[in-house]
Amino acid sequence: MTFRVLAIESSCDESAVAVLDEKRGLLAHQLWSQVELHRQYGGVVPELASRDHVRRLLPLVGQALQQAQTSGAELDAVAYTAGPGLVGALLSGAALARSLAYGWGLPAIGVHHLEGHLLAPLLEDPAPPFPQLVLLVSGGHTMLIEALGIGRYRVLGETRDDAAGEAFDKSAKLLGLPYPGGPQLAALAEQGRPGKFDLPRPMLDRPGLDFSFSGLKTAVMLTARAAPLDEQRRADLARAVQDAIVETLCARTLRALQQTGLQTLVVAGGVGANRELRARMAEGAGRLGARVFYPRPEFCTDNAAMIAMAALQRLLGGEHGSPQTGVRARWPLSELQPPGVAN
Ligand code: KG4
Ligand code: ZN
Repeated sequence: MTFRVLAIESSCDESAVAVLDEKRGLLAHQLWSQVELHRQYGGVVPELASRDHVRRLLPLVGQALQQAQTSGAELDAVAYTAGPGLVGALLSGAALARSLAYGWGLPAIGVHHLEGHLLAPLLEDPAPPFPQLVLLVSGGHTMLIEALGIGRYRVLGETRDDAAGEAFDKSAKLLGLPYPGGPQLAALAEQGRPGKFDLPRPMLDRPGLDFSFSGLKTAVMLTARAAPLDEQRRADLARAVQDAIVETLCARTLRALQQTGLQTLVVAGGVGANRELRARMAEGAGRLGARVFYPRPEFCTDNAAMIAMAALQRLLGGEHGSPQTGVRARWPLSELQPPGVAN
């Protein structure tokens, strides 16, 4: 018996559907980004996100089934993101997934969004072995996690205020870049010269593995207000912001590698798509004899392939569907259990 899963992701502003087969790999991967919808508001509007998921998801399911050349009859489970995220957005995906599962007579599996991000590198070849140190850096989270296996996660450190993606996005906004700012700021930083602005690297002088990014945002605001910036100076400031965030993430991660002695590092989540971060992390981890694994950039940001992978791992571990039918806006990763243990 080999498993085949259809998965739906709708926790924020991406509507996505994927089909993953245990033996044949990823058979389909469809994504509709709501970026244009939310751009004029400078951020995600939850109500608009939910409505758009309702509009987009069912057609995406049809397209994914067609792309995978499969049907409900050949599937073994329907997975969906059950949290954390925007409640309305989550509910639109959950309701559709549970209806499809009911109609097809299949189990429905509610997946933790962060477990999806964490396990996204398993979609790549070679896949990272356990145990792993995971740096999870997204728009909502910045965490260092010791992953011993599926559902066996220990949080070693996390942000005390803004997430790394939030720091990218808020700084980008202050620089006048359109939403979502992270990738735009990274692109502008490529034209910037190093060392032209001195921004803080909060907490780096302190012990422990926690992060803090809110001071950076304030420093960028004061710098941007102090004097008008021409194009080159704007790029220089973007470069300084990226350098400050990347350096902070690398320093903490390398400390965690040293403290735990782990040899496998996984960098996951939207900010993991940042090229400078990838280059600097590979260099630093290499010096410590550790190997770094990343999902391909399109699987760093929100997608359904990672949700399908998390569900597949849980099916392989003996899980038969989630008894809980609700979704959770908040859901600490530490509450997750290995497959088969009631979550
Ligand atoms: O994982 P994700 O798609 O959504 C959440 O679960 O939060 O992450 C989105 C975050 C945003 O803050 C976005 O600006 C950031 O990832 N991001 C980047 C890059 N690509 C996405 N930040 C810096 N450089 C990038 N290339
Ligand atoms: Zn995400």
